[in-house]
Amino acid sequence: MIATVARSGLPPSPLWGEGWGEGLPQRTTAPASNEAAQPLLQLRKINSFYGPVQAHFDLDIEVRKGQIVSLLGGNASGKSTTMKIVLGLLKPRSGEVDFNGASTLGLSTPQIIRQGIGSVPEARRLFPAMTVRENLLMGAYARRDRKAVAEDLERMLALFPRVAERIEFQAGTLSGGEQQMVAMARALMGRPKLLCMDEPTMGLSPLYVDKVLELIARINAQGVSVFMVEQNASLALQIAHHGYVLQTGRIVLSGPARELLADARIRDAYLGGAEAARTAS
Ligand SMILES: Nc1ncnc2c1ncn2[C@@H]1O[C@H](COP(=O)(O)OP(=O)(O)OP(=O)(O)O)[C@@H](O)[C@H]1O
Ligand SMILES: [Mg+2]
Repeated sequence: MIATVARSGLPPSPLWGEGWGEGLPQRTTAPASNEAAQPLLQLRKINSFYGPVQAHFDLDIEVRKGQIVSLLGGNASGKSTTMKIVLGLLKPRSGEVDFNGASTLGLSTPQIIRQGIGSVPEARRLFPAMTVRENLLMGAYARRDRKAVAEDLERMLALFPRVAERIEFQAGTLSGGEQQMVAMARALMGRPKLLCMDEPTMGLSPLYVDKVLELIARINAQGVSVFMVEQNASLALQIAHHGYVLQTGRIVLSGPARELLADARIRDAYLGGAEAARTAS
């Protein structure tokens, strides 16, 4: 089971030096304990639109420091649009977005990224004609500390050995799973406090799905908070602390991941429960 692998108390790793995760302690306690941590990302009463079409209705989401938070929901429920709001790619018509205690609404996307948000977009979006190394270095484009960038590159290659093997390959020649790892490593090269991921397991083989989820849990154990969008609720909730379920732009259910996993409504709607077909409204 992924949860067992991902939560089995991975050994303390020297991969991240000081400055990672704002000195957060490594996760050694049950995930629910993180409910008490400080808020890192807060979306409050977000209403967003594409032209006349409303995509979010009074959306409230919170990611606390040290947490993995999963945003679940079916097609066109507004998951990717939520990521756009966080990254400043779409400005809400009303509502508040705070990151690390300050509003991001007046900031451009590059400014938001510099505040400490790393993005792994839907479908990875690597630069296919560039090498893996060049893609990784693009993740550190805003950094001036060249020596530390070189050290972080080495850390990434230790964390993602498969990426290390492909370092001089053109990114476009890699498999989907390998590209996902490059995209994660590229985002981490910016030393984010929060890693935002849109459907990180989409289109991957089962082997890579497990691997990617294990890596997300491991990255989180090093102190990086994670906000991930997933359609695969059962997998996402196994590594998450907290979950939200989005339906046509509204949060219809939220709570600690363990409770959501046990919730009959989640089981029926997302986990292939026997009642799914009959109870779907
Ligand atoms: N650029 C756009 N212009 C107009 N409408 C859009 C645009 N992008 C998304 N939408 C609409 O906003 C709603 C939410 O879309 P969004 O992409 O956020 O959903 P999603 O939950 O990520 O879906 P999926 O699971 O298919 O990725 C949908 O109704 C979609 O058609
Ligand atoms: Mg989407």
